[in-house]
Amino acid sequence: MTIAAIDFGRLYSDHLAAAARAPKPASAWDARAADMSRKVQRSRYVDEFIARMDLTGAETLLDVGCGPGTIGLPLADRLARVVGLDYSRGMLDALLENAAARGLDNVEAIQLAWEDDWSAVPECDIVVASRSTTVDDMAAALAKLHAKARKRVYLTHLVGGRFIDPAVIEAVGRRQPPLPDYIYVLNILHGMGIHARLDYIEHEGRLAGSADFDEFAGRVAWTLGELSADERSRLRAWYDSMPPGHAPSGAPMRWAFISWEKAHA
Ligand SMILES: C[S@@+](CC[C@H](N)C(=O)[O-])C[C@H]1O[C@@H](n2cnc3c(N)ncnc32)[C@H](O)[C@@H]1O
Repeated sequence: MTIAAIDFGRLYSDHLAAAARAPKPASAWDARAADMSRKVQRSRYVDEFIARMDLTGAETLLDVGCGPGTIGLPLADRLARVVGLDYSRGMLDALLENAAARGLDNVEAIQLAWEDDWSAVPECDIVVASRSTTVDDMAAALAKLHAKARKRVYLTHLVGGRFIDPAVIEAVGRRQPPLPDYIYVLNILHGMGIHARLDYIEHEGRLAGSADFDEFAGRVAWTLGELSADERSRLRAWYDSMPPGHAPSGAPMRWAFISWEKAHA
């Protein structure tokens, strides 16, 4: 058997199906828009993402799964046009509000899902997908990013397949297989004839900075789904077992930063 015989797109989809996560509807993201909008204004992740980008010769940027404008907005004053694509109306409203607050008039919002027809989505010099690649069909998603980019593509995909510390999942008593790792992305791209670059960005996990147990448990439930009374009390016991003044923040999150150039850029 050779590597060329392996359908990594199929492997990714099979792995995702085995991980058995309930898909998050757009309304779940709507509810998070205000909180996320606040958090990403000052974020080391954003600084590190942008520091790894090359904007040479670029005038336009498409930000897929843009959220409140995490990557596109801080770059907008260096570009002629920024297009944010997201399926959550709440996220797009936050993007436009944040753009207005910064006095930007070159930011547009397109409400579409990864899975929709993208024929109306403009080609842009730079295409970004930051922390937004939990898709059912990775091969199709990567083909869409590639097709819409004139010069370069930048994406981040979770390393290790878990959005929170496995120790917390264990404390709750859930059996939850990890999501597909970033290595599928590299292999699918390789199969498309794209030799992507790989780097990593690490930042505080999403449990860090919870003010009290209720907030901590709420953040765990966002990732794992609603907790039963029994799971909540197991989590409480684990939380209370931490030394005083050391609220658990979980392990840091690692993102694979994957980028490539269009051949004729
Ligand atoms: C974790 S947030 C990332 C937001 C932003 N890119 C960032 O790095 O902060 C994931 C974003 O992807 C969007 N999203 C999730 N599934 C989507 C889908 N199927 N189609 C389009 N957008 C989606 C969500 O609405 C959300 O804004």
